[in-house]
Amino acid sequence: MARPIIIDCDPGQDDAVALFLAMSSPDELEILGITTVAGNVPLELTQRNARMMCDIAGRKNALVFAGCNKPMRREAITAEYIHGNTGIDGVDVFEPETPLQEQHAVDFIIETLLAADAHAITVVPTGPLSNIGTAIEREPKILEHVREFVIMGGAMREGGNRSPSAEFNILADPEAAEIVFNSGRPVTSMGLDVTHQVLSTRERVARIRALGNPVAEATAGMLSFFHRYDSKKYGSEGAPLHDPCTVAWLLKPGLFKTRVCNLSVETQSELTLGHTAVDFWHVTDRPHNVDWAYEVDADGFYDLLSERLTRFGG
Ligand code: RIB
Ligand code: CA
Repeated sequence: MARPIIIDCDPGQDDAVALFLAMSSPDELEILGITTVAGNVPLELTQRNARMMCDIAGRKNALVFAGCNKPMRREAITAEYIHGNTGIDGVDVFEPETPLQEQHAVDFIIETLLAADAHAITVVPTGPLSNIGTAIEREPKILEHVREFVIMGGAMREGGNRSPSAEFNILADPEAAEIVFNSGRPVTSMGLDVTHQVLSTRERVARIRALGNPVAEATAGMLSFFHRYDSKKYGSEGAPLHDPCTVAWLLKPGLFKTRVCNLSVETQSELTLGHTAVDFWHVTDRPHNVDWAYEVDADGFYDLLSERLTRFGG
């Protein structure tokens, strides 16, 4: 029986690959809807980009919704310096045929969760948590219908990527993140500690490009662009493939090592806003509210991604 999920994203090349990976696996993941949020680029682009990926993947019947165009309590920050002005530089932009649903993403999330059985739906946010935090604040009853949150966000050993101490998704909307981590429902977090281990090296990108189908082509094109900033910044070869770690966890959790512990979000300090204080060594008595990923089999991750992308062939 496929696990019902809602993917909440801000494409973003890595969000796009996460969508492809999820769409490649309908026997395991039933995508109830793709909700989009302002993040890497403004909402009008993230929703367009998500719909483009549905076209490329041949899933024009996917339900795509636009959500919050800014964080819950703050002005938006964006990341064109990493993702390019389109948000998905590396593929040619086109007007997608996949329609944008009329309904607001937050209303879709609330309606879908309230209509589901208890603990039935897995929510997979790969961008700022503005849609999710807003939905929980507006209708807390939805939490009874959430099986778990599997998010891309946070950093412990790796330090921050958008500030010295904060990862972008959490920094972009720290109040929303605090709501999710304090929701009382299970949260698995794929932070920079693990996403920085899955680098899209030239060899891995070439392997994907050689698959020779439109989805693999688009993936290789996006990764060939997406790595530039991080490769220069970290001196590594290839960009961290952040967001697909969430879907890979759902498909093959054995690829990852995780530890249940406390994660608290800094929402007050200007210096460390958005910092995720991960109590990995249990030095406090704070509640264990996160399953924190800290290690991944990178080759196994790319084997999974490449194998699943072959499914778009023929
Ligand atoms: O910090 C990495 C995260 O921020 C990824 O989700 C990327 O897409 C951006 O949203
Ligand atoms: Ca993202």
